[in-house]
Amino acid sequence: MLTAEKELRVSEKAEKLKGSEIIKLAREVNDKISKGEQITNLTIGDFNPQIYAIPEKLKTCIAEAYQKDQTNYPPDDGVAALREQVSVYIKRYAGLNYQPNEVLITGGARPIIYSLYQTIVDPGDKVIFPIPSWNNNHYCHLHQAQALTIETKAENNFMPLASDIAPLVKEAALVALCSPLNPTGTMFGEKELTKICELIIEENKRRAPNQKPLYLLFDQIYWKLTYDGAIHQNPVSLRPEMRDYTIFVDGLSKAFAATGLRVGWTYGPKRVIDKMKAVLGHIGAWAPKPEQVAVADFLTHTPEVESYLSTIKNRLYTSLLALYNGFSALKEKGYPIAVIKPQSGLYLSVYINLKGYKLPDGEIITNTEQTTFFLLNYARLAIVPFKAFGTQNDDPWYRISVGNCKVEEIPELFIRLEKVLAQLSK
Ligand SMILES: Cc1ncc(COP(=O)(O)O)c(C=O)c1O
Repeated sequence: MLTAEKELRVSEKAEKLKGSEIIKLAREVNDKISKGEQITNLTIGDFNPQIYAIPEKLKTCIAEAYQKDQTNYPPDDGVAALREQVSVYIKRYAGLNYQPNEVLITGGARPIIYSLYQTIVDPGDKVIFPIPSWNNNHYCHLHQAQALTIETKAENNFMPLASDIAPLVKEAALVALCSPLNPTGTMFGEKELTKICELIIEENKRRAPNQKPLYLLFDQIYWKLTYDGAIHQNPVSLRPEMRDYTIFVDGLSKAFAATGLRVGWTYGPKRVIDKMKAVLGHIGAWAPKPEQVAVADFLTHTPEVESYLSTIKNRLYTSLLALYNGFSALKEKGYPIAVIKPQSGLYLSVYINLKGYKLPDGEIITNTEQTTFFLLNYARLAIVPFKAFGTQNDDPWYRISVGNCKVEEIPELFIRLEKVLAQLSK
């Protein structure tokens, strides 16, 4: 038998590792699209560059970096000019004080999370995270960590409460939080995040000096995308003592529609950042040097940075609001739908509960998978169930992502959706 035809065994870890369910669904949808089907694909948390291009100034800076042959290895902590500019950027827009030597540049945000888990989490350690949330289950699996999950509620905008976290802190090595949250487009308010910080501070006072502290991974990759007066909160500004325990996940990917450039940055206590740098060095998951040089240059052009951010926010919010209004109108008409007002990021949380309804072909919908495929096949709308973010199989909540959404196509989408919903019967 040819080797390729055999089931070759690999490590237990790799055998049991699940790929991203979102990418899997997006692949199926793209397959249909490539066969000519007209589908509104609102699955993946990415930008269609035909709709959302990166800043023009950044394109020029990238071209110049290649022209100037900036093509060798970058330094292992990142190009100095970029670490300097990140330090200026987070001071200017978030009031955070981090020196360039407390900043680490990475190949997008994922290597930050991976190297942080490597740095903090020993096999068997416990990691607290809310569900729905993005990929913590996979990072726990990769690091043989025990997940302490918190199921959040729609009435709390799917954000965890301090009272959910409190009983778990004593046993944990890491709390992993994200705000603005993927998949929900919601965020922490000042009061609840402050209470969570206080829990972590108190727990660390309780631990012996030679014990590993309880750290906080704070993923704020979407923090520059907030709407309608919503204010992003971060743990270190709320409680300066959190500086010793907080490691931020941040970068270029979402605010500048630059997911393919692979430039991320993290900042936190220098000792932890230095260890993450060592881990990163063994993976080589640095951001490409020409992009690092280019982003350092781009960030010095404040008017271009600010004008881009203001435009992208307006455009994303216009789409999110149009979708929100469309789903609200369906709810008003009595369809089993609910929707949460978008606050931030690329996402809208929508509840579509079609369980018990009969499809035109007589089949009765009994689960979320059937609903997802009904929406895909009948309404030609592709969206991701929260189940892909760790919730129960029959969870009727969905994530809608607007990075691939043309606002002018939204009215037609709702005509289509209402038409197929009207065909369902009980
Ligand atoms: C919450 C969150 N953190 C991190 C990332 C990873 O970002 P990057 O593409 O920069 O690796 C994503 C990507 O979707 C995300 O949603």
